Amino acid sequence: MWPTRQVAETMHTPLNPNRIASLIDGRRVLLVVGAGGAGKTTLSAALGVAAAQRGRRTLVLTVDPAKRLANALGLQAFNEHVQHISVADFAAQGCAMPIGLDAAMLDVKRTFDRVVTRYARSPESAKKILEHPFYQQASTALAGSQEYMATERLYESVSSGEYDLVVLDTPPAEHALDFIDAPRRLIDLFDSPTFRKLIAPSSRLRGGVFRPTSVVMKGLQRFTTVEMFSNLIEFFGHLSETFDGFVSRARDVQTLLQGPDAAFVVVSGCDGASTEQARSLQEHVTGLGMHAPAWIVNRMFDFAPTLAQPQSDLAAELLAAWRDDGQTPVSSEVVGLMRNLAQVVEKMGGLAARDRALLAEVAASVAPRVNVLGVPRRIQEPDNLKELFAISNLLLDAVPVGEVAP
Ligand SMILES: Nc1ncnc2c1ncn2[C@@H]1O[C@H](COP(=O)(O)OP(=O)(O)OP(=O)(O)O)[C@@H](O)[C@H]1O
Ligand SMILES: [Mg+2]
Repeated sequence: MWPTRQVAETMHTPLNPNRIASLIDGRRVLLVVGAGGAGKTTLSAALGVAAAQRGRRTLVLTVDPAKRLANALGLQAFNEHVQHISVADFAAQGCAMPIGLDAAMLDVKRTFDRVVTRYARSPESAKKILEHPFYQQASTALAGSQEYMATERLYESVSSGEYDLVVLDTPPAEHALDFIDAPRRLIDLFDSPTFRKLIAPSSRLRGGVFRPTSVVMKGLQRFTTVEMFSNLIEFFGHLSETFDGFVSRARDVQTLLQGPDAAFVVVSGCDGASTEQARSLQEHVTGLGMHAPAWIVNRMFDFAPTLAQPQSDLAAELLAAWRDDGQTPVSSEVVGLMRNLAQVVEKMGGLAARDRALLAEVAASVAPRVNVLGVPRRIQEPDNLKELFAISNLLLDAVPVGEVAP
């Protein structure tokens, strides 16, 4: 299905390492994080298209895409299977691509099932866990499981060898923090000797330590919102045999995320709240020893800068231009129209200036460690291949704020 790597090599030109294209070429994993609604899913898809444009065999793993975008990517609800968007699919939308793109939706429960099956002692034992009444609830209700499973699925895809790059969309910021921390929290909890002793089938302490106020239960509460503790104890008793597998995989995931193959792309909108959330994500990721070299300010109002100056006399200028000879009388209708037009230009210019100021402020606060790019607000909703292709081109062409040529 995939052409050879030659495509990538022939397309490869020396790049400024600041550019999105060099992240696409140089990393194996891009994790897109940011505040709710900032455009993570859209930009994950666009980054996937950009990578395919550069001949990289790419998988986009999305979380809960909006319906039309899901359709455009060939994804259906509750289906975690990988879908291929072919060169012909893109061509039908007028987009020339060297290779297609794979996309899949993250399905927490199915990933959980696979993990349990992989780490259980035997198929019978896996069956016991999978068929446990509590499992159905636990596998989706464990807070943090979605985040952990996202990293698990990411790791599966990266290590499958099928892809040059995996782009991972993530849930909104508050959960993204859980997600980034998930492997470490899982290691901390499952690996602690106390926890292991307590969930051991032979433990006589269980009745006592599984009181809701006990240290262990407090630890568990970080993972769960479910209150059926007695069920939980029994369930964890069965599940305990998978812990070694979980822990060692969580370590692998952590190593991958901290290594040079992975990069976080932070996304924010043009408002203070999402900028602040993006900033704290950026700091959090960096604090954990992970790389976050790019920040995209999305949905910028991009109005022509020449018209974005304060235009106090624009109406008069327009009228003068309209009159041509400067003499011809102008109807009050035309005067009103020119005034309205001048007002619109002024407002749009003001909005664009505000967004540009925000972009400059973000760039100044994180440069030169982080490359800050602006993506304009599109007139058409970016929920189809054509729009994703257009955003992909913008990303590939974008020059980070303050870029110094290499
Ligand atoms: N550059 C853009 N121009 C115009 N509309 C955009 C742009 N980027 C995203 N959108 C639109 O903004 C909305 C939110 O985008 P998206 O779903 O990608 O955000 P998200 O961060 O993934 O949201 P959530 O946190 O809910 O997962 C969608 O309707 C999307 O089509
Ligand atoms: Mg999303």
